[in-house]
Amino acid sequence: MNWLQRLLHPTATPARIAHLDARHARDVAALHQQGGFARGWEPGECAALLADASVAGDGVFPGQASRPAGFVMSRKAADEAEILSIVIAPGHRRSGLAAILLGTHLSRLAGSGVAQVFLEVEDGNVAAERLYRHLGFREVGRRKGYYPKPDGSRVAAIAMRLDLG
Ligand SMILES: CC(C)(COP(=O)(O)OP(=O)(O)OC[C@H]1O[C@@H](n2cnc3c(N)ncnc32)[C@H](O)[C@@H]1OP(=O)(O)O)[C@@H](O)C(=O)NCCC(=O)NCCS
Repeated sequence: MNWLQRLLHPTATPARIAHLDARHARDVAALHQQGGFARGWEPGECAALLADASVAGDGVFPGQASRPAGFVMSRKAADEAEILSIVIAPGHRRSGLAAILLGTHLSRLAGSGVAQVFLEVEDGNVAAERLYRHLGFREVGRRKGYYPKPDGSRVAAIAMRLDLG
């Protein structure tokens, strides 16, 4: 099953996927703060990213929700893209929202001419790594000591790639 077939697989939670713009900066910043990352994104930083023509952002809106329960953002360069971040609000996890959000985002990237997608995930982030593998990403390398931890230690980044095609 490739990434497109996975996208077409029925999801448990009916949800709308919509493009995000700078008006969603506060929602994105609030979601990012819930992602458990060492450094959170400020609303101004999110607004700048969402206004950047090379950055694509999508949000997932479960049911009739008017505010996103999760977002994904990527940066495009020529026919490649890098996933910058993906977060689903803790109360909405394990409902298939990240799979449908990322699957739709990948489909839109493919439609805009992107052939390869890259990302980095912290070694030990089982949920994210499984999500990415679920959508067809494969490990292509490791960067030792890439992510700083609150206790002063450092953890490796797993570099992953997906070919769209
Ligand atoms: C990673 C994250 C986005 C997944 O969101 P989600 O909506 O819960 O994921 P889904 O329900 O769509 O799950 C899709 C697949 O991912 C994997 N997965 C998701 N959460 C998992 C978990 N806690 N443990 C194991 N596998 C998990 C499974 O393979 C799952 O498929 P399955 O339900 O058929 O087994 C979410 O846990 C999150 O926001 N984490 C914090 C932020 C983060 O780490 N982002 C990634 C940074 S690189």
